[in-house]
Amino acid sequence: MHPFAQYIDNVPDFPKSGILFRDVSPLLRQKFSETIDAMSDLFTPDEWAQVDHLVGIESRGFIFASALAYKHGKGFVKVRKPGKLPNVCATIAYGLEYGSDELQMQKGDSGKVIICDDLIATGGSMKAAADLCEQVGYEVVGLACLVDLKALNDFEWHGMRVRSVIQYE
Ligand code: PRP
Ligand code: HPA
Repeated sequence: MHPFAQYIDNVPDFPKSGILFRDVSPLLRQKFSETIDAMSDLFTPDEWAQVDHLVGIESRGFIFASALAYKHGKGFVKVRKPGKLPNVCATIAYGLEYGSDELQMQKGDSGKVIICDDLIATGGSMKAAADLCEQVGYEVVGLACLVDLKALNDFEWHGMRVRSVIQYE
C-alpha cells in the first residue's frame, strides 16, 4: 500500500449506509505539499509543457487543480455544480456512487487541459467533466486524481486512463 494510505481515514457508512468513505482530509492536513508533488509526478515534464490549463471538479477537485496550476504556471478552470456559474455554456447530468448530480462549465478556449479530482469512484464525475471540456472547446490531454477506488470501476475516457497516486483494488 502507498505510504500516504496511512493518512487516509476509512469511514464506514458515510455519507450513506454501505459506503466506505476514504477521507483524504488528514493527508492534506499533514502532507499537503508532498501530495501535490506526487500528483505532479503523474505527468512527465514534456507532458506538463504542453498543458495550458488545469480543470478542477467542484469541490474537492479545486484543491488539486489550483495547486498544480500554481506549481506549473498554468491556468485554472472550474467545473461546477448547477446554479453557481454565470454564462454557462454546457451542462451534463451524471451518476455518483451515492447519488446523482449535474456539472456545468463556461465557454472555454482551445487549450489543452488536465482534469483533476480528489478521488474517482464510478468515474461519473470525471466522465461528465471530460465530456464538458470537449463540448466547450478544450482538448483533454490528461485525467488525474489522488485516489482511485478501482474496486468500483476501471474507468477509461476515449481510451485514456486516469492516473492516480493511491489505488484501492
Ligand atoms: C466526490 C469526489 C469526486 C466524485 C467521485 O465528489 O470528490 O468528485 O464524488 O465519484 P464518481 O467517480 O462516482 O463520480 P462529490 O460529488 O461528493 O462532491 P464534493 O467534492 O463537493 O464533496
Ligand atoms: N471518499 C471520498 N469521496 C468519495 C468517495 C469516497 O469513498 N466515494 C465517492 N466520493
